[in-house]
Amino acid sequence: MIYLDNNATTRLDPRVLDAMMPFLTDNFANAASTHPFGVSANEAVKVARQQLADLLRCETHELVFTSGATEAINLAIKGTAESYQHKGKHIVTVQTEHKAVLDVCQYLEKRGFEVTYLPVQPDGLLDLNDLKAALRPDTILVSVMWANNETGVIQPIEQIAQLAHEAGALFMTDATQAVGKLPIDVDTSGIDLLTFSAHKFYGPKGIGGLFIRQRRSRAGLPNKVKLEALLHGGGHERGLRSGTLNVPGIVGMGKAAELAPVADAKAGPPGGRVSTRSTRNSTPYHSGNAD
Ligand SMILES: Cc1ncc(COP(=O)(O)O)c(C=O)c1O
Repeated sequence: MIYLDNNATTRLDPRVLDAMMPFLTDNFANAASTHPFGVSANEAVKVARQQLADLLRCETHELVFTSGATEAINLAIKGTAESYQHKGKHIVTVQTEHKAVLDVCQYLEKRGFEVTYLPVQPDGLLDLNDLKAALRPDTILVSVMWANNETGVIQPIEQIAQLAHEAGALFMTDATQAVGKLPIDVDTSGIDLLTFSAHKFYGPKGIGGLFIRQRRSRAGLPNKVKLEALLHGGGHERGLRSGTLNVPGIVGMGKAAELAPVADAKAGPPGGRVSTRSTRNSTPYHSGNAD
C-alpha cells in the first residue's frame, strides 16, 4: 500500500524520533522542576523554541506551545474575542477555512459575536475587494488560512494583513499547511497570530503552537497582541497555556522545524499551490482530500 495523504499527516522523520527518544526514556523530568533533571528538560525546550522561532522568524517569547493547531486556533480566536470585545464584536473569515476555524467562529456567533464568512473565487482565492467591503470599525479580527488543506491554494497573506491593519483589526493566519513547506517571516507578512501543528511537517502528533505578536515590526502593526487564556492552572507558557509541557513533543517539533526544507525555498505566488512532496523520505506527493 502506498501512503498518499501527506496533507492529513506526515510520517515522523527518523531524525525527529532520535531527538525525542531521550525525553521519552531517561530524561523524563518535568520542564518546570528546578532540580537538575528538570533544568535539563527545560534547556531542551528552550532549544526547540529557538528552532521554531528561526523557522517563523519571530522571537522565542512570541511562541506558545499547544496540543496542536486546533487548540492554537481556539486560543487565538476565542482569546482575541474575549480580549478585544470592548472594541468590537465582528470577525471576518473565509468559507474555505478548516473546521477548526469555522466551528470556533460559529461558537462565538452563539455568544453575541458577528462573523462574516467570505466566499472564494473559482480559483480558490479570496477577492480582496470582498474583504475591503466586509471590514468595519468594529472588526477585531481577520482570519484567513495561508494554504488550503484540500486544494493547496495559497492566499495573498501580506495584502490581506495590510487591509486588516488599515481597518484596525488583527490578522491571524492558520498556517498549519504552510509551516515547514513555505518560507515564513511573520514580520514581512504582517502577521499578528499564526497557528501550526508538528505532524504536518514530519514532527509528532499532539503538539503544535501559536505565534502571538509581542512587538511592533513596522508602523501600522499593533505593539502587542493580548489574549485571554483558555486553560488556567500552573501558569505555564506565560499564563497563556497552563499544563505540564510535552517535552518530547516540543523537542520533536523543534527538530522537525530545523529540518524543514524551506530555508532556500521561495513562497509560491498567491494562487500557487503547496506541494507536500517529501524531500526526506519516499512518501509520494498527494495534494488532495486532506484533513
Ligand atoms: C489547515 C488546517 N488547520 C487546522 C488543522 C488542525 O490541525 P490538528 O488536527 O493538528 O489540530 C488542520 C489539520 O487537520 C489543517 O489542515
